[in-house]
Amino acid sequence: MATFDQLSRPLRDLRVSVTDRCNFRCRYCMPREVFGREYRFLDRSEVLTYEEIERLVRIFVGLGVGKVRLTGGEPLIRRDLPVLVERLAAIDGLDDLTLTTNGVLLADRAAALEAAGLDRVTISLDSIEPASFRLISDSSIPVERVLEGIDAALAAGLAPVKVNVVLRRGINDDQILPMVRRFRGSGVVLRFIEYMDAGRSHGWELEQVVPAEEIIARIDQEFPLEAIEEPELGRVARRWRMKDGAGEVGVIASVSQPFCRGCTRARLSPEGRLYLCLFAGTGLDLRSPLRQGASDERLEALVRRCWAVRSDRYSELRSQDGGDEPRVEMSHIGG
Ligand code: GTP
Ligand code: 5AD
Ligand code: SF4
Ligand code: SF4
Repeated sequence: MATFDQLSRPLRDLRVSVTDRCNFRCRYCMPREVFGREYRFLDRSEVLTYEEIERLVRIFVGLGVGKVRLTGGEPLIRRDLPVLVERLAAIDGLDDLTLTTNGVLLADRAAALEAAGLDRVTISLDSIEPASFRLISDSSIPVERVLEGIDAALAAGLAPVKVNVVLRRGINDDQILPMVRRFRGSGVVLRFIEYMDAGRSHGWELEQVVPAEEIIARIDQEFPLEAIEEPELGRVARRWRMKDGAGEVGVIASVSQPFCRGCTRARLSPEGRLYLCLFAGTGLDLRSPLRQGASDERLEALVRRCWAVRSDRYSELRSQDGGDEPRVEMSHIGG
């Protein structure tokens, strides 16, 4: 049964963050000064178990969710993730089960994830140039490892395999064409994301955002593009087809062309809080009622009410100074 919010948006997608930890320290997401040795990550007892996640996802599917994306942190560092995938894949009514990963562990896990019922995968990769990749991820793990992960996902049939690139001017905007050249014709769908002021750990500045229009114009000069028309609702990426038939590219223009009007997604944090907007400061605690023995009906009523009163549309209202109210970290809810 569909559930609508104050702006008549149905609840359709759920992003489930399975861990707040990551094996990278991308400077715009988990800078070492903040996420260093002293940082207090969640204890194991605080994080939802697979049984708890499955129970909550069933409730969301009952409310109209048909699409679930597993995220983190880095979801593949959570032990036995295919076990969770298998449980979720068995839920009736859930017709798109997917995963966002940095790809480091994907070469080892792609086949098992596919066998467990994962439909497809999205890999975050901001550069294919070794030196800039090292700087951006602040890690000694080589970019080849991620490229092997992408190949493994293609080989396992986790299609369409998407690669998300967060662009920042002066840092990796020189990667637009090299990445298009590298992935065109491979079956990978490349998507360039405008850098957002998510969380509070970054040093976001509007000047760093490369607008979607500029990204498309730069690609179009070398590889002529034509727009793919799509319905508005739930749409995040705008898609373009390469006229020579070598595939498509997408842009996620959440800064220059916000898409809050069609926002159909909710986010479940690793410790069981329900966040509605990517820029929310607080989330509804579902773990306490869950662990105190609440019935499915009770949990469903909590989620339904939370969505019904929602009216957020942060990106459409974004102010230049960004305000100073608290904001959940991107690494906690996974985008
Ligand atoms: P598909 O399910 O493959 O179509 O993916 P998607 O288009 O939903 O995109 P994905 O989940 O890969 O998200 C890509 C990026 O878009 C995220 O990492 C965020 O940076 C951004 N994004 C996704 N959802 C939202 C949203 O609701 N609001 C905003 N402002 N940005 C979002
Ligand atoms: N702006 C846009 N995208 C971001 N991501 C992380 N931080 C930001 C940001 N500030 C992306 C990651 C990954 C996804 C989960 O979110 O690169 O693709
Ligand atoms: Fe980088 Fe993604 Fe890890 Fe954040 S969660 S540090 S963006 S790999
Ligand atoms: Fe939805 Fe918030 Fe993103 Fe707007 S900014 S699309 S309301 S998550």
